[in-house]
Amino acid sequence: MKCVVLPVIWLMAATMLLLSDPAQAGNRVLFLAPAASKSHTNFFLGVAKALVDNGDEVTMVMPFSRGKKFVREVVLPVDINDLIPKNIITSGRTAPMQLFTKSPTYCANALATEEAQAVLKENYDVVMLTVFVSDCFLPAIYQMGVPYIMVSPAGLMGPWFSVAGNPQFTSFIPDVMFSSSENIDISHGLPFFNRMVGTLSSLATYALMNFYLISSMESALRSKDLYPANTPSLHELRHNSSLFLLNSIRSMESVAQPYVPTVIHAGGIHLHDSNPLSADLEEWVQGAGEDGFIFFSMGSAITPSDMPEEFRKMLVKVFGSLKQRVLWKWDLETMEDLPSNVRIGKWLPQQDILGHTKLRVFITHGGLHSTMEAIHHGTPVIGLPVMGDQYLNLKESVSQGWGRIIDWNIDEDTLKQVLDDVINSKTMRGEAQRISTFLQDQIKPPSEVATYWVSYVVRHNGAKHLRCPAIKMPWWKLYNVDVWTTVIAVQLLCIYLFCKMMATCFRCCCRRTKKKVE
Ligand SMILES: *[C@@H]1O[C@H](CO)[C@@H](O)[C@H](O)[C@H]1NC(C)=O
Repeated sequence: MKCVVLPVIWLMAATMLLLSDPAQAGNRVLFLAPAASKSHTNFFLGVAKALVDNGDEVTMVMPFSRGKKFVREVVLPVDINDLIPKNIITSGRTAPMQLFTKSPTYCANALATEEAQAVLKENYDVVMLTVFVSDCFLPAIYQMGVPYIMVSPAGLMGPWFSVAGNPQFTSFIPDVMFSSSENIDISHGLPFFNRMVGTLSSLATYALMNFYLISSMESALRSKDLYPANTPSLHELRHNSSLFLLNSIRSMESVAQPYVPTVIHAGGIHLHDSNPLSADLEEWVQGAGEDGFIFFSMGSAITPSDMPEEFRKMLVKVFGSLKQRVLWKWDLETMEDLPSNVRIGKWLPQQDILGHTKLRVFITHGGLHSTMEAIHHGTPVIGLPVMGDQYLNLKESVSQGWGRIIDWNIDEDTLKQVLDDVINSKTMRGEAQRISTFLQDQIKPPSEVATYWVSYVVRHNGAKHLRCPAIKMPWWKLYNVDVWTTVIAVQLLCIYLFCKMMATCFRCCCRRTKKKVE
């Protein structure tokens, strides 16, 4: 009996081993997000959750804990507040500059922590690395000898086109940072001035990134003895990612544009349908009756109490005069002049609120996640942008007919008028819901897309065959600047020679005629 059973078990085990591809699932994934903001981690954790649900093991390195049980959290003892200005509302436009100058030291300090060093000694199949302020982990990843994937908490932006190896068309894609406030029809590309600004700013960010930031990061690492010998330059390591995972939905981008095969769209991975509100909140919301309620949140990165006191007072006055109730995300416990129809909360379940049938309008700063969530739930918005891509996100909601933009100089009457317009609009909710159908209509849910491509990279040892040669090319070669320069130079030379020839001929003729006359 024994001699029959044993071979059978053996055979079964062998077939199971053969049938199951060891790289399919159960990958060990290291997710490095050493400088993530809270809102960025919404996307990162969405990706991590999808991987875990697929059977992978995820270790997440972050500057704070989000208390999620499905991943193994490794919290670095660093202070993310070193990277951002104290008051984003008043200094929003300069925030990117601060990020630039402070990031080399921040990143090197994060890498030097015991926690980071310990986690980098473990074995993984693939590393995921966020695009903001984590480049200094690349030498360590190189030493691990595993492929890595760049993860962007937004779409593909300025300095990362070259890292992703994706051509950047400044001729029709408006620049995120320098986008002007007026609405331009770009169905035939951008006007000359915008193309000029976009091209120059993309060259400037390319130079700043490659010649300043990366080299100062490299020297910060070397000064801490964190750059192992025989490791290629940071510039070279940065241009070696297997994939570039975006928090963007391809069919919903403001401008349709071409992407190389390694750029993967997984936007909306964190979205979920709304769950019922807590009994207490539900009762309060229902108390507004058919007039419904307004939700006002400036997201997680902006501290609402940083707003100018004048502005807050104006809001209190306007909100207090409305028939609707107002739910306001506010970072302090109390507000002394709070009107009876307004309720504040430090933490409010945004996605559940946005899906509530009694919600009439969402007043938002226009961050990417908030915008996506508004679209997902088909809610009209009033935007109060502060920095970065928020202007662009909100401008799009306006041009699509489901949003309005206000600014920090708005007065009482105008704000009341805007609120009234949006709440009573016959078309805005319909437009929001129409845009929402684009979001639902995708070939595969983003969780499946992300997990498929991550395991693809592991299965094919970094999937080098997908990489577009553009990733290894300097910008002047990619855009044929040398070719155009040669063509123009040769033309100029021809014109010069032609003129020269004509001049010589002319002189000869003149001389001959002169001689004849003599
Ligand atoms: C690039 O990544 C591959 C793995 O995907 C690795 O084998 C190779 O050594 C890396 N090269 C550089 C220069 O980083």
